[in-house]
Amino acid sequence: MTIEEKKARLLRLSEKVTEEWLKEQMDYCIQKIEQNMDRFGTKFPSACATNGRYRIKENDDWTNGFWTGMLWLAYEWTGKEKFLIIAMENIQSFKERLDTHFVLDHHDIGFLYSLSAGAGYKVTMNDLCREEMLAAADVLLARYQERGSFIQAWGKYGDPKEYRLIIDSLINLPLLFEATDLSGNTCYREAALKHYQTVLQTVIREDATTYHTYYFDPETGNPSYGATHQGHSDNSIWARGQSWAILGIPLNQNFLPTPIPENYGAIVDVFIEHLPEDLVPYWDFDFNDQNPSDKDSSALAIAICGLLEASINQAYPQAKLLAQGMIYQLGEYYSTKDMENNEGLLLHGVYAHAEGKGIDEPNLWGDYFYLQALMCLLNPNWTRYL
Ligand code: GLY
Repeated sequence: MTIEEKKARLLRLSEKVTEEWLKEQMDYCIQKIEQNMDRFGTKFPSACATNGRYRIKENDDWTNGFWTGMLWLAYEWTGKEKFLIIAMENIQSFKERLDTHFVLDHHDIGFLYSLSAGAGYKVTMNDLCREEMLAAADVLLARYQERGSFIQAWGKYGDPKEYRLIIDSLINLPLLFEATDLSGNTCYREAALKHYQTVLQTVIREDATTYHTYYFDPETGNPSYGATHQGHSDNSIWARGQSWAILGIPLNQNFLPTPIPENYGAIVDVFIEHLPEDLVPYWDFDFNDQNPSDKDSSALAIAICGLLEASINQAYPQAKLLAQGMIYQLGEYYSTKDMENNEGLLLHGVYAHAEGKGIDEPNLWGDYFYLQALMCLLNPNWTRYL
């Protein structure tokens, strides 16, 4: 199928997405979240499921915000106080995590705090949420490297072996932009803007495909080379990396006066071009229907949110309808709606293939972005958390 044929198919599928269909998907998601909440209480689900079940964990990973974000969203959709109560308990847990600087030596502070405190602030205007957003922004800002103008993703700050950024970082930047809006202190915005520009100049290749990570020379700050961490190879296209760009770029443009980068359309094209027959991507675009591997439904859920964001400022033609076609495939063929014992919302995600982690399983970010996409389609005026 050519890209035009795939788009035409997505547009045809989009016609099947009615309000009734969306509500049906939303209802089963909320039911699952309610059941999961009864089991997790004030603890957290693991990053990915095993045999369709999440482990019960502490607030100790980069993924805990997805769970809290789902609770906020369930509260906004249903108005049920039980979601609000547990979400606020989570906010307390996120405060303790900040106070003790527990597992925060990485850049995923935006994933954690935009979806917990940031979402909480949007919903309740609670002061504790606001304070946490600012304290979390300080933690993220502290990872900014002047030499190279980027936020260091992982490892000890300044470690020459870890002197790199990763494409996922785009989703961490809104926390910094919002911190400037909340505090009036421009240092957050300046770092976010510089990091964003560095991402656009390095990790996105000339042909609009993406590296997962990009290294810099720690002495000079000059860009060195692209490499993968979770993809199939350094030069391959990790499906979720491409999705992080599809979402991350329009998300950050919301805070900027400049037009969307010229290559944004080509970045989306790469993703659609590589979709297989059922329109749900393999975990890396080295694979296809002739040379198959595992699917990553979470990459599609993220791309859908990206297209919905892009549709707001007309950054990609027919973005909303294409997103609708994609969500139809997820809802019809990748959802857990008839699987009572599966705690995820979306089947067939991949966490880290090379490490054997979360392969062909639900994961929290797939669940979260699927839910956010449903909410955006059901209620276009809803204030998004990411
Ligand atoms: N941000 C890490 C991942 O996408 O797996």
